[in-house]
Amino acid sequence: MVHIYSPCLSINKMGHLDISGCDCTQLARQYGTPLYVMSEDEIRRVCRSYAESFQKYYHGNGKPIYASKAFCCKEMCRIVFSEGLDIEVVSGGELYTALQAGIPAKNIHFQGNNKSYAELEYAVKSGVGNIVVDNMQELETLEKVAKAYGKTVSVSLRIKPGIDAHTHEFIRTGQIDSKFGIDLASGEAMAAAKRTLELSHVILDGLHCHIGSQIMEIEPFVHAAETMLNLLCDIEQLLDVELEHLNLGGGFGIHYKETDGFIPYDQYMAAVSVRIHEICTERGIRLPKIYIEPGRSIVGEAGVTLYTVGTLKEIPNVRNYVAIDGGMFDNPRYALYQSDYTCLLANKASCKANYLATIAGKCCESGDLIQENALIQSPEPGDILAVLSTGAYNYSMSSNYNRNVRPACVMVSEGKSRVVIKGETYEDLVRNDI
Ligand code: LLP
Repeated sequence: MVHIYSPCLSINKMGHLDISGCDCTQLARQYGTPLYVMSEDEIRRVCRSYAESFQKYYHGNGKPIYASKAFCCKEMCRIVFSEGLDIEVVSGGELYTALQAGIPAKNIHFQGNNKSYAELEYAVKSGVGNIVVDNMQELETLEKVAKAYGKTVSVSLRIKPGIDAHTHEFIRTGQIDSKFGIDLASGEAMAAAKRTLELSHVILDGLHCHIGSQIMEIEPFVHAAETMLNLLCDIEQLLDVELEHLNLGGGFGIHYKETDGFIPYDQYMAAVSVRIHEICTERGIRLPKIYIEPGRSIVGEAGVTLYTVGTLKEIPNVRNYVAIDGGMFDNPRYALYQSDYTCLLANKASCKANYLATIAGKCCESGDLIQENALIQSPEPGDILAVLSTGAYNYSMSSNYNRNVRPACVMVSEGKSRVVIKGETYEDLVRNDI
């Protein structure tokens, strides 16, 4: 039997995988496969634990902002907003989704290293609460856009604090060689702050950093907070200004496997807050509002993807391929990052997992694998394969490769299920073809 680490998952009386009171085999029957299943209960539980830690460590002076790139759809925006989180968007499309979901523009924060003129116009016209400016060029463009619309816009500056978080190279963003943000060490950050203060249609409200993703250590977060708060103090003192907030980004790691060295989020929050309070005292400044921007940790463990097992191909002394009806088009993360996942057969969840499988997708591509060396229960065609912790960066990174349709997404809560994203149809595939 596979050990199941996520609080929303269990094995029910039938020996089937259960997510928030729903039997995964029944969900597969009712909605078809592939199917993204997300636990609303788990999403809300994590949102609340973050909100509580802001009360506990900062007396409510700050808030979590959901990084919607992890999983963006209207219902997700509504759920996190109803838990008191703001929403971070990184494109006109994510902004549109959040606005369509009814999120007030003032609760939306707009990020991105190469926002287009049209995206900046859209953000300014909509009245988004904060624009995180990535570079000096964008700052000047934004000033022009805001002026053209007769508005003043609240901005934060995205800073590269030079922190090397130990994670997969592709998802490291806080170090110097990064396409994201304004350099700290060379003095560019101070120059950007100075320039922002000279402009009349942008208001310097805060600083922002994001040091990477799926980070399983506390130290880089403490180090980043320290570096950023010291910069905030320097800016305030040298430029005689008071900044409203410090946004420390996301990046908290989740379980993909039982053996992952998982750290409860409260521990990151506690350690960072201790250092922040110390620095405020040392440097004699008031506590700015603290924001964090988690994506993966809010939604990752809440998601499971269900597939139907098709072709079995045992190649003696080589490997056993277990092919499923999905693949890199619904989850490209193994193909891109060799990401670990826990896989099991939902209809045999209580049986021993002693079959070494390579889980293969259906795309015309040898690298279209979901997992190698996965120990699963003995597979047969028609079994329901569940891949755990697929709530973050799965639907959001999906594609139509090989003209496969994106699966539906079902939200489950206390034994009830509802579709929150309809599965695509073949007509959808040709909708924009001429
Ligand atoms: N804030 C900013 C500015 C970010 O760039 C990101 C993620 C986050 C917040 C949220 O980070 P999280 O809490 O989710 O770690 N596609 C990759 C992950 C890319 C992360 C991009 N930025 C993956 O599938 O692992």
